This record gives sequence, structure tokens and C-alpha cells, in this order.
Amino acid sequence: MASSVLQGKTYFVRTFGCQMNMHDSERVSGMLDAAGCLPAADPDGADIVVFMTCCVREKADTRLYGQCSSLKSAPVPPSGRRVVAVGGCIAQRDGEGLLTNLDNVDVVFGTQAITHAGELIARAFETGESQVLTSEDNVQSATDMPWHRETDYHAWVPIMTGCNNFCSYCIVPYVRGREKSRPFEEIVDEVTGLTRLGVREVTLLGQNVNSYGRDLFGAPRFADLLRAVGETGVERIRFTSSHPKDLLPETIDAMAEVPAVMPQLHLAVQSGSSRILKAMNRKYTREDYLALVDRIRNKMPDIALSTDIIVGFPGETEGDFLETLSLAEQVRYAQAFTFIYSKRAGTPAAEIYDPTPRSEIQARFDRLVEVIQRTAYEENQKELNTTVPVLMEGASKHDPSILQGKSPKNQTVHAPVPEGANAGDFTGKIVDVAVDTARTWYLSGTLVGNPR
Ligand code: SAM
Ligand code: SF4
Ligand code: F3S
Repeated sequence: MASSVLQGKTYFVRTFGCQMNMHDSERVSGMLDAAGCLPAADPDGADIVVFMTCCVREKADTRLYGQCSSLKSAPVPPSGRRVVAVGGCIAQRDGEGLLTNLDNVDVVFGTQAITHAGELIARAFETGESQVLTSEDNVQSATDMPWHRETDYHAWVPIMTGCNNFCSYCIVPYVRGREKSRPFEEIVDEVTGLTRLGVREVTLLGQNVNSYGRDLFGAPRFADLLRAVGETGVERIRFTSSHPKDLLPETIDAMAEVPAVMPQLHLAVQSGSSRILKAMNRKYTREDYLALVDRIRNKMPDIALSTDIIVGFPGETEGDFLETLSLAEQVRYAQAFTFIYSKRAGTPAAEIYDPTPRSEIQARFDRLVEVIQRTAYEENQKELNTTVPVLMEGASKHDPSILQGKSPKNQTVHAPVPEGANAGDFTGKIVDVAVDTARTWYLSGTLVGNPR
């Protein structure tokens, strides 16, 4: 544990990237809380600033440089010294090199060294020297670390770390290591404990939750885990991400049969062209994916599907892209995260020459977004004049008189705060909303009945 030098220091953690990083940030914050530190409202006033970084695309990579540099002009905090720490995937990738590129960084801790973040920061204060650690660690022990949760009603629960898939465009396996599943009982006990603390929704996390348990004794399956987590009494279960090549019929059955599993599935397709999927090393074809969607919808006709799609993978032709467009039309996603391919050094796809002009790729991207927006809008219309149970997150960031929350299908739902009430009274409560408006990215309506 970190030494008393941290007692009373203020800290600010900024997170980039995926839910894995968000959860890692909760662990780092928990570690700093346990060492006697206090959260700060902004990075400029904090004694300790931690950046939890992402390198999945170039944009995520460059944001760190901007934010780190802007700290240089921030006033010195009251304690007389600011320690800047960089964790997450860029830290794991670049290690010591970050100290050369960013001259105000004091601590670098990789994804494999997260359990040591507190002691490295303490040592930087004590010695005034920079600290770097990216070596292999028992990542699983991160689950023994203290945990500072952002909300009382929802928890991210990692069920595994790392990735074995090596999709040809993706940096994640290089910065997160190989798949390692958490013990079955440990996850179930954790969810039981969280439920007792008042958590109503958990999101089970892994780069490919469908391969959960393959590395454990007895090889428990993800379907078994869903059923066991369903027995804990937690009211809502979500999970991400789900690789189509590993989504087994028994998992689809468990999703349909466990009442707490929400009617929503994120199933990244990446491309609608079998030729490009092969080059991406995704190990399924367009036909496999569409057959899987049929199987899922046969069991759960009303499920909301979301996806990730990459446009402009090297060598993608107009014909390949048209297959992606037609797949998106056919599947009718409720939501899709669309990305322009970003070359990542060290991945196999970075070696493929691509003659396609950037303007052409941008035009394809815009055409895809148009289709996604239309189908998302049309899918949302199904909710008009229905009543949906919404887990409220609090007031909308844009309008304090509007409550915001999530439907079972993970749609954002808005409703006015009733007269004389506070948005905070509803946070973490499930309230029925009678939907009278359905837009592309949200539903809205009025509260009916009492919060529960
Ligand atoms: N493991 C998850 C899966 O397979 O569904 C995905 C995790 S990755 C952090 C999130 C998304 O980033 C991927 O699904 C992919 O669409 C996108 N992505 C990854 N590498 C990329 C790259 N080099 N360029 C553009 N998008 C990328
Ligand atoms: Fe990246 Fe593929 Fe692993 Fe997802 S499954 S993290 S896209 S390598
Ligand atoms: Fe980014 Fe690392 Fe997640 S590269 S998307 S933060 S696993």
C-alpha cells in the first residue's frame, strides 16, 4: 500500500477509452481514497493527476498529449508539487518512452501494473524521481484492490482481462495481454455483495465475454455465469463485448431465459464483406453473422442489437462497403459505433497498402451513418405509446429540469422532473415512463407510477 506521503493530497483521474479503462480508473481512485487522498473537482487544482489512456485509434492517442501539455500552464497546487501519472494502454505500449515525449510526466504504470499505481505515485512524491512499471503482474489481484464506484446503482464487473483474438487492425491484445478469466465464484460473490449494497444493474466486462472460462479449471461457460449472476438477485444484467464467432446457442438460451438479462446485445460486426472480415481475422463470414442474428431474434424477437463498424479497412472497395451498408439495413441496429480505420503500428493491417483516398473513406463513413441513424430512428418508433421501466441516472447534463435514464433496451429516456421534486430523488430508482416521443438517439415521455 502507498505510504503516508499521499495522506490529504487531492487527485483527479481522467479516463479515455473503453469500459475496461473506466473500471481500472475506479480501482485507481479507490487505491488513492484508501491512501487518504481526496478527489479534486478539476485537474488544474489537483496534487495528483492520473490519465488513464487509450490507443485503439490515433485520435485517442493524441488526446493525451494535448491534455498533458495543458497541465504545464496550470498553477502549482497548494501542496507545492503536482505528480502527473499516465496509466492504461498508452502507458503499457510506450513505457519509459513516454517520459521522453511528455516531459511533465512523473509516473507511468501499464495495464499490467495497475495494482502498483498508488505506491509508484507515493514514491514519485518521496524521491522526486520518475517511476515506470509496465511488467507482467497478477492482473487478477486488481480485483482485491479498493474500488471507488462512480454510481451507487450500477457497477462495471470485469469477468476477464486481455484478448486472444488478434483482429488484424487492433492494438488491444498487445496492450492488454492474453485472456485471463476471473474465478466463477469470485464474480458471483462480487455481484451478490454489490446487490446487497444497493447496486441494481451490473455490466459484465471483457473484450470477448463469450470465451469466458476457457482458461479455468472445469471450463465454466459464459452461459453458466449468466445464469448464476441471474440468481444473485441483481435486477439488470448487461455485458460487453460479445464476439460473434464465440456466441453459443446455450448463451442465447441463457439470455432469453434469465429474466434479469436485459433485451439488448452488442455484437460487433466490423464489416459486411466476407472478404474484408477474412482480412480482419474475424473468423466469421457475412452469412455466419446474419444467421446468428436470425437465431438471436428467433429466441428474442424484441431484442435491441448494437454494433461496431470500421469503414476504410485497407483494401476495402466500394463493393465491400455496399455489403456493409446492406448488412446494416438488414440487421436494423438500434445503435452503432462507427469508426474510420486508424492505422496502428505493430498490427498486421498496418502493413497493408491502401490506395483509397481519404475523401472517399469519409464519404462512405457519412453514408453509413445516414443508414444507422435512419434504422435507429425507426427502431425507436416501436416504443411510442408504450410504458418503459427506466433506471434513472439523474438530471440531464443539458437541462436540470429533465430526468435521464436507461430503458431495458439501453435506450436513453428523458422525462420532466415532476413539480416540487428533485432529480436526485429519482437517481438509482426504476420509474415507468409513458413514451410519447421517439427520436434517433432518445425517447421521452412522462413519469407514471411511483419510483421503486
Ligand atoms: N473486443 C471488442 C469486440 O471485438 O467487439 C472491441 C473492443 S475495441 C476496444 C472497440 C472497437 O474499436 C472495435 O470493435 C473496433 O470497431 C474499433 N477499432 C479497433 N481497432 C481499430 C482501428 N485500428 N481503427 C478503427 N477502429 C478500431
Ligand atoms: Fe480487438 Fe478483436 Fe480483441 Fe476486440 S476481439 S479487442 S477487436 S482483437
Ligand atoms: Fe482503448 Fe485500451 Fe480499451 S486501447 S479501447 S482503453 S483496451
